Amino acid sequence: MSEPLKVAIAGLGTVGAGVIKILNDNADVLSKRCGRSIQVVAVSARNRNQDRGVSLDDFAWYDDATEMVVAKDVDVVLELIGGSDGIAKALCEKAIANGKHVVTANKALIAHHGSALGAAAETKNVALSYEAAVAGGIPIIKAMREGLAANGIKRVYGILNGTCNYILTAMRETGREFEDVLKEAQELGYAEADPSFDVDGVDAAHKLAILASVAFGRKVDFDSVNVEGIRHVSFQDIQFATELGYRIKLLGIATETANGIEQRVHPCMVPLSASIAAVEDVFNAVVVDGDFVDTTMYEGRGAGEGPTASAVVADLVDIARGNLVPAFGIPTSDLMDSVPASMAGHRGAYYVRLMVVDKPGVFAEIATILQDNSVSMESVIQRGRSPGEAVPVVLTLHDTTEAAMLKTLETIGQLQTVLEPPRMIRIESL
Ligand SMILES: NC(=O)c1ccc[n+]([C@@H]2O[C@H](COP(=O)([O-])OP(=O)(O)OC[C@H]3O[C@@H](n4cnc5c(N)ncnc54)[C@H](OP(=O)(O)O)[C@@H]3O)[C@@H](O)[C@H]2O)c1
Repeated sequence: MSEPLKVAIAGLGTVGAGVIKILNDNADVLSKRCGRSIQVVAVSARNRNQDRGVSLDDFAWYDDATEMVVAKDVDVVLELIGGSDGIAKALCEKAIANGKHVVTANKALIAHHGSALGAAAETKNVALSYEAAVAGGIPIIKAMREGLAANGIKRVYGILNGTCNYILTAMRETGREFEDVLKEAQELGYAEADPSFDVDGVDAAHKLAILASVAFGRKVDFDSVNVEGIRHVSFQDIQFATELGYRIKLLGIATETANGIEQRVHPCMVPLSASIAAVEDVFNAVVVDGDFVDTTMYEGRGAGEGPTASAVVADLVDIARGNLVPAFGIPTSDLMDSVPASMAGHRGAYYVRLMVVDKPGVFAEIATILQDNSVSMESVIQRGRSPGEAVPVVLTLHDTTEAAMLKTLETIGQLQTVLEPPRMIRIESL
């Protein structure tokens, strides 16, 4: 058997401790699969005395993780700390500069600095691997870079944030509102104390930007992702969605269009017949449309110790086998700049909910505004009658541009008889 692959782990939290457990528990099968063993030789975290549920006795301890990455006996550095900049970035840059392979689970880092780190890694002929950064345990990067390598990819989309999927599922199943379910998710450990990265769509946007880069052979372009979270989704919207034959999901969708690359993260109404509509709770799913393979879908746990560490170890196995693939599927120097398609030009169908005063003539005013903006209606639902009081009116609208839709809603929102800002959710035909 060849020399062991020697690994240094920076960060011993949920993912770092999980990696050590897998390397311990599955050492034999991993050795067989790699033709060599994978050995942890050094570790670093902030608090040396913290019990992490795994023994660290056999590993050299470093208070400063950036010192660890220059050690001669280290082949691979695992960056499992987190954050788009600071120590995580410094550590990866230094590791690569010193000729070490880098494996990270850090989507924020790859979304912001992936192209530069990938280029540096190529110069040094080392791996930059980040399977765990997108959809946790789902091997989607490997699937796209290798399994689907024969295909041109025009669209990739998915449920990329388990916290949001859990919240939307629980709202529908229990009839509760967003804030209430978020609080419960925090108590269960599914949501962070500061949930904004998850519920405002930023985490999903990080992952989408990475998927788009691999799919379309372009530099990672996080800044061009149009992001909208789930805070404004109400139980009423979820009920209407069911009635209309849809489920509400926070999707990240990247499409290569004639106008450029469209990247968007927002709540969507997806038909109940779509496979992704059935992906519930904390599960993630990614759908890739290839020109020869057609549509493929991958589902699994997007976070948590076991699934995330599973993806990190898979990257280690590739390195141990000598299977080095360019970070984004093609040499980084060949990645094109991403030309963003403007969201204003996006075409699609829309769901709109209005709270209007129940009195004659209101609907005629709304219909006139739709007509003035060339927006055509597919269906309307008005529930209940309470003359003079506020009632919800739900419209579904045929394909139109985002610009026309926003202008229409702005005008409708100014009507005296419309009592709340209109709520809009995009309908995806998928
Ligand atoms: N958790 C998941 O389900 C999941 C899923 C996908 C991706 N990820 C990504 O995986 C990465 C790690 O996440 P995690 O959940 O494992 O985080 P975590 O539990 O908060 O662990 C972070 C670790 O980093 C250590 N650390 C912080 N600052 C450090 C420094 N300056 N030097 C050395 N170590 C330092 C901490 O040390 P102490 O323990 O001593 O404080 C801790 O062990 C993040 O990029 C995250 O986005 C996580």
